[in-house]
Amino acid sequence: MQRLTNKRVVLGVTGSVAAYKAGEVIRELQRAGAEVRVVMTRGAEAFVAPLTFQALSGHPVHRELLDPGAEAAMGHIALARWADCILVAPASADFLARLAAGRADDLLTAVCLARGVPLALAPAMNARMWEDAATRANVQTLRNRGVLFLGPEEGGQACGEEGPGRLLDPVVLAARLGELFEVGSLQGRRVLVTAGPTREPLDPVRFFSNRSSGRMGFAVAAAAAEAGARVTLVAGPVALEAPDRVERVDVTTAEEMLAAVSRFAPEADVFISAAAVADYRPREVRPGKIKRTGESLTVELVPNPDILATVKSRWPQVFCVGFAAETGDLDRHARAKLAAKGVELIAANLVGPAAPEAGGVFDAEDNALTLYWEGGSMELGLAPKDKLARALVAAIAQRLAAWEAGGGGTVVSLHRR
Ligand code: PMT
Repeated sequence: MQRLTNKRVVLGVTGSVAAYKAGEVIRELQRAGAEVRVVMTRGAEAFVAPLTFQALSGHPVHRELLDPGAEAAMGHIALARWADCILVAPASADFLARLAAGRADDLLTAVCLARGVPLALAPAMNARMWEDAATRANVQTLRNRGVLFLGPEEGGQACGEEGPGRLLDPVVLAARLGELFEVGSLQGRRVLVTAGPTREPLDPVRFFSNRSSGRMGFAVAAAAAEAGARVTLVAGPVALEAPDRVERVDVTTAEEMLAAVSRFAPEADVFISAAAVADYRPREVRPGKIKRTGESLTVELVPNPDILATVKSRWPQVFCVGFAAETGDLDRHARAKLAAKGVELIAANLVGPAAPEAGGVFDAEDNALTLYWEGGSMELGLAPKDKLARALVAAIAQRLAAWEAGGGGTVVSLHRR
């Protein structure tokens, strides 16, 4: 099936030597069933004449932000409303910078800013420009806002250099854009995920934390987005890039994580708590560095809020999935957590020395999960975390449907009315 059938695509073309390939992109999008309107930046016009894209798309090319005639016909707001998605191909380094800065100083940035639809960027630039720290930071900022990056590819470049920076093949671009419209098992659902550890400060240079790398939670967020959900990922301090199409919020402490989660939970359909939240924090954060005295030091720890249990009790309409990280007796502890936190599902994993075949799980490639719910359980065997996350998301979609069919989640309407 053509995934882009009847889809309206605004194709943005920016100033890159790859601008000439946008003609092929138009053709491939049309072949996949899409209707295409082209917006060009001034930089793009230096490489290709607008008439080329007008002839290929069958529509006038949009170029001016402050053109009264154009605004009357189809201005930036109308274009943004018309689109089912926006693809910028090629996206230059300068365009990424302007978009990351929230500029609206030409038609294309204004359309992107005014959109309520998915935005995909296919970068094309010199390899060094792509790898420059400023570009990396802009890409990260845009990813964190849920922008999808398609490419770039590695290979020989127009400037004679080799490396990442080539525009993705137009056939692949059209196919990847089509995936945005795939109907997945969590299509249209809002999913909130937590991942990584929290850090609980003791003084300006020390903190309490744990071994979580965030890999499991990030894989779950990616799998939920792949299944069609609108995903918000609340992440503790980790060294990972946000998955495509996922909105990311960074936090440090458990209390910050609770505050961020509480902002998004009221609108969520599903909450997946994969974060290894520190159960305790120092009662007092010392203003200066604690000096070594040679004496023993006693630090008083106080309990942190239980984020998962709080969400379930405040917003019972949200389908809640907890993780349980155990060093033994998985079945008993997982069932106890299912009951104590009042959640719909627990994904339990053995960790540390109890999981040698999964490399201890923390910061490892693999994991093995067993799922528990009231009256049932299911083993998802040892697998790479991304694969396991997809299986978990499929199981969540199934349990969610069963829960809703049985009357779970109906508090929503009572609650929100
Ligand atoms: O990040 P990785 O390196 O990939 O490792 C993955 C993982 C082992 C961290 C992950 O698979 C995992 O098990 N995450 C949950 C870790 C944990 O804190 O488990 P717990 O059994 O202590 O907590 C039970 C549940 O309550 C969890 O859903 C946890 O997010 C939640 N919780 C715990 C304490 C707290 N104060 N608030 C909470 O919400």
